[in-house]
Amino acid sequence: MAEHVQIREVGPRDGLQLVKTMLTAEQKLEWCRRAGEAGIEEVEVTSFVPPSVMPQFADAGEVARGAVGLGGFTAAALVPNLKGAQRAIEAGLRKVNYVLSASEAHNQANVRRSTQESLENFKDIIDFRNDLAKNSSVRVQIAGGIATSFGCTISGKVDESRVLEIADKYLEMGADELIIADTVGYANPAQIRRLMSAVLKVAGSVPVACHFHDTFGLGLANATAALEAGVRAFDSAIGGLGGCPFAPGASGNINTEDTVYLVESLGFSTGIDIAALLELRRVIEAWLPGERFTGGVARAGLPKTFQPVPAHDQRRPRRAAT
Ligand code: COA
Ligand code: ZN
Repeated sequence: MAEHVQIREVGPRDGLQLVKTMLTAEQKLEWCRRAGEAGIEEVEVTSFVPPSVMPQFADAGEVARGAVGLGGFTAAALVPNLKGAQRAIEAGLRKVNYVLSASEAHNQANVRRSTQESLENFKDIIDFRNDLAKNSSVRVQIAGGIATSFGCTISGKVDESRVLEIADKYLEMGADELIIADTVGYANPAQIRRLMSAVLKVAGSVPVACHFHDTFGLGLANATAALEAGVRAFDSAIGGLGGCPFAPGASGNINTEDTVYLVESLGFSTGIDIAALLELRRVIEAWLPGERFTGGVARAGLPKTFQPVPAHDQRRPRRAAT
């Protein structure tokens, strides 16, 4: 049976960080709903940051509550601190994806504190989560993200030993997942193979996801290298939208449609219906005039040689091809 690879749609979060148009909560929820119906297992539905930092996410509570109500997929949110995690859990989310940066300069630009302070904030979130579990039936999964793991547009090189040290600290504190991010798209496949093999070794049974941006067109080459290293989960955004406003020169995420195409072409199952993703992409394109959408599958269609890999999960039957 084919091995499974999980694709997390981060479009409603990362994908909206640089766009000029403010989407309504209804539009964001349509994005989430249709992604879930296409077979996406986890959607990063919003970001719990102060509205003054990112006006696009002023409706985070409403979107999170709505996304939980939709069901059928895990609704997660990005959080930069304890307050963000508390707001996310209060809105009903049971998965939060925390972010800090391996680059001190990017961490300061992004969350206005040192990486060490951000690690201490993560411990506060874990303690908060553990207290909740002790005193209620609320169970929350917390992922530890490491931005700029492969280089930084502000400070340049990031030491692999620093990324591994942060990964170790996350695991020690009780992270349920690690997300290794190439926030600015500096990585190459050799770097990915080296660092991801090392991260997977320290992570043991804790899931590890990669979060790639496609600044230099190496995003899918890097995803291939990560698959070869043993990574089985990726973040991506429909249409290749995305980018961090606090990392100068950042560009879009790897494209969800093309990532699914790549992963299934290599013989892994995703449970995702590419035709349904393309329909969703057309809807989003109409909402976001003037934005740059990427992707080969949207442009050329699927090749006649493409064979979707049957999904394992019978609860999520692939929709009939349209
Ligand atoms: N959600 C809502 N409000 C928040 C918040 C959150 N997650 N975190 C802090 N605040 C509020 C505080 O309550 C405080 O409000 P007050 O002035 O009314 O008392 C105010 O924001 C400032 O709080 P402070 O802790 O001093 O934050 P800061 O100004 O140092 O900013 C971050 C720190 C982390 C909140 C901010 O830098 C941030 O949101 N960064 C994320 C950037 C991002 O999204 N990057 C892209 C993704 S990688
Ligand atoms: Zn990103």
